[in-house]
Amino acid sequence: MKTYNICLLPGDGIGPEIIAEGVKVLDAVGRKYDVAFNYTEALLGGIAIDETGTALPQETLDVAKASDAVLLAAVGGPKWDTTDPNQPRPEQGLLGIRKELGLYTNLRPVAIFNALASASTLKPEIIDGVDLMIVRELTGGLYFGMRERFYDEEGAGVNGANGQRAYDTLEYREYEIDRIARQAFEAARKRRGKVTSVDKANVLETSRLWREIVHAIHDAEYPDVELEDLLVDNTAMQLINRPADFDVVVTENMFGDILSDEAAQITGSLGMLASASLGDGVALYEPSHGSAPDIAGLGVANPLAQILSVEMMLRYSFDMGAAADDIHRAVTAVLDEGWRTGDIKGPDTPADKVVGTVKMGDLVCERI
Ligand code: NAD
Ligand code: IPM
Ligand code: MN
Repeated sequence: MKTYNICLLPGDGIGPEIIAEGVKVLDAVGRKYDVAFNYTEALLGGIAIDETGTALPQETLDVAKASDAVLLAAVGGPKWDTTDPNQPRPEQGLLGIRKELGLYTNLRPVAIFNALASASTLKPEIIDGVDLMIVRELTGGLYFGMRERFYDEEGAGVNGANGQRAYDTLEYREYEIDRIARQAFEAARKRRGKVTSVDKANVLETSRLWREIVHAIHDAEYPDVELEDLLVDNTAMQLINRPADFDVVVTENMFGDILSDEAAQITGSLGMLASASLGDGVALYEPSHGSAPDIAGLGVANPLAQILSVEMMLRYSFDMGAAADDIHRAVTAVLDEGWRTGDIKGPDTPADKVVGTVKMGDLVCERI
């Protein structure tokens, strides 16, 4: 029997609730295809800070590196929110594991499930046919640049003698842009053949370098792909103005973070947006949303972004396309039958069709 070792990182907030549903779906797939998934759970984020003092313990990194794939839920929460740069934060664990595993490509597919058309805040005719893929650079830019907070000897502070200063730096190297651009063009070739490269080249030097390199690669190696440049502020507007026009959207780390939450809302809820983080070694799969502290522990979180991340794991890490299709079909069927979690229910959803996290996971498994 084929065996895969999966590192599970439940993290914080709704994390443990939704990852349990992801595992349930994996097990259902394993039974159907006679594949064994072995799980090793490890600590990441706030729970890791509580138990070990650091958001990314070495042991977690070791388990992740030794596995065939990593399934992450979400990290963070008010308990660990601090503005003190000397205190650990859960998010450092997430950034750390992305960097350590070299996960420079983050794929965030934004596609409409027809049954959810009414759950979107946009008009049905605007979201009809939306099927886009955000290709977010994940290990560079502002998230990983030089940063500092210090007391400025020269400036007067608000409340007295010396004022504080802080900076974050946005830096990209040519090879970082080169490799993410290739990922975008390759993705476009398997889709509708169009790439929108998002930058702020009217202001930022990194964006000017970005644009030059994206075009050089395009002209030399991917002339068959249609390429357009779009400034990030305009993109934010066009995404809700004409979302169906986009195919592949490639952009730097922070622009991609912001635009993907915006794009998620087109599909009805952030609770629907899966993601795959890929590099040259072991890959990591996680919902695009966070730990949703406002609903943690209530059993009402939508597990579908996690389950759709499992679909991506089967497709990209295990070459189990048929099983991945099964998951997608099962999710589509459950939604077509009218089942909803709270975040995707509409004004006309009958109360007996609104289910919690566990029930939603069960419904998907039954249809695999
Ligand atoms: P969030 O994504 O956790 O929540 C935003 C809103 O969406 C909330 O109202 C929440 O209830 C809702 N939501 C999110 N996922 C949902 C789901 N599966 N089902 C139903 N509703 C869902 O963003 P936030 O509140 O800004 O951040 C909370 C914490 O999560 C912060 O500590 C943040 O740093 C962290 N975070 C972690 C990740 C990650 O681990 N990948 C991603 C984003 C945010
Ligand atoms: C995401 C999250 C993370 C990010 C945070 C929690 C560090 O918002 O995965 O989108 O900004 O990358
Ligand atoms: Mn985000």
